Amino acid sequence: MSEHFDVHGGARLVGEVEVVGAKNSVLKLMAAALLAEGTTTITNCPQILDVPLMADVLRSVGCEVELDGDTAYITTPTELSHRADSPAMGKLRASVCVLGPLVGRLKKAVVALPGGDAIGSRPLDMHQNGLRKLGATSTIAHGCVVAEADGLHGAQIWLDFPSVGATENILMAAVLAEGTTVIDNAAREPEIVDICTMLTEMGAKIEGAGTSTLIVEGVDQLHPTEHRVIGDRIVGATWAFAAAMTRGDVTVTGVDPHHLELVLEKLRLAGAEVTTFDGKGFRVMQPDRPRSVDFVTLPYPGFATDLQPFAVALSSVSEGTSMITENVYEARFRFIEEMVRLGADARTDGHHAVVRGVEKLSSAPVWASDIRAGAGLVLAGLCADGVTEVWDVFHIDRGYPHFVENLNRLGARIDRVSSAGDAD
Ligand code: UD1
Repeated sequence: MSEHFDVHGGARLVGEVEVVGAKNSVLKLMAAALLAEGTTTITNCPQILDVPLMADVLRSVGCEVELDGDTAYITTPTELSHRADSPAMGKLRASVCVLGPLVGRLKKAVVALPGGDAIGSRPLDMHQNGLRKLGATSTIAHGCVVAEADGLHGAQIWLDFPSVGATENILMAAVLAEGTTVIDNAAREPEIVDICTMLTEMGAKIEGAGTSTLIVEGVDQLHPTEHRVIGDRIVGATWAFAAAMTRGDVTVTGVDPHHLELVLEKLRLAGAEVTTFDGKGFRVMQPDRPRSVDFVTLPYPGFATDLQPFAVALSSVSEGTSMITENVYEARFRFIEEMVRLGADARTDGHHAVVRGVEKLSSAPVWASDIRAGAGLVLAGLCADGVTEVWDVFHIDRGYPHFVENLNRLGARIDRVSSAGDAD
């Protein structure tokens, strides 16, 4: 059933909101459970659509998966299937993260090309080149990545770009390879540190987590563990932008403010008063209209491309002109077309967008093209006059647990409306 949100403009968000585990971590941690026979327990899982989808992916290769509230129990059997080509694979990007563990454990994998957000070209060349360096063959056939090896051996691997997914797949194959693997120009995202922590708890030997050089000493086998997912910094940042845009006062818990240092600094430059609580959360209070700030997306510790829609949305209601540069996913600026429908004064030129702030946006029907763009449109709707209809909200449900409920608790008025027109 098609659903949309009616977003009533004019709210000032005030209060406290708790952030749970990170989508971009939990899905990879679930894949990592394939590396160890027995039951792995993952806690602080967000209740979002992608988690049951990933559970289906794991079931399709032979695991038993039980989701109980915020806990996932994944039982990995001795005999796993090397074929991960169920329909669930096409529904999320993170499904490709079963490639590394399957190659690591079975030395063989047929993994359907993943789905996920339409945010631009998402090739797998670095994933494949990394596996080749470890001794596997890797080709694309009939819509699947096919990889096979007689045995995996350690190797020196240089990534062209610090890709999050390629770092994860290579890491999860290398932990069971013979000898030492060095991944240079590795991604440094907090989610990479999280997976390194979990793999280490499982018996892997990894040095350098959080730096651009990961050194992995292969071991014969891993054992199951219990692991708590780190808080979702992208969701945490969404609330921070929401506070700044609505001139509100929001305290966010459950996320480490060190993971958001640059984001919070940008909001300070925009005029927000920001207080951090070590390891626990932060408070963003925006007394006046935000001032324009420039943003440049880059791999961590740069400004996350996932937050670019919020940078555009904030700039669209700030005083002055902002330049926003997108360096990771070229198609993310599609979001700006929807912002223009809402009265934003914004234009793009290649990797750059220029946004001239307006006093108030103007409500209109708009369409979410991906998770973050959808959330960005909802925040923009809060700063528009009248009621903004945001369509294709299934995207938002893939990444934000209890999004509408949380916003309404902070003082927004948003109704989820089914195609039949019934609010719930
Ligand atoms: C992950 C996140 C996504 C985030 C992105 C960048 C998940 C499920 N998704 O996606 O939300 O926006 O990190 O922080 O965790 N690339 C190649 N070849 C490859 C791999 C990547 O050219 O083999 C390019 C991509 O096209 C992109 C860039 O590298 O331009 C970064 O991609 P990557 O870090 O791999 O993103 P994902 O892991 O797919």
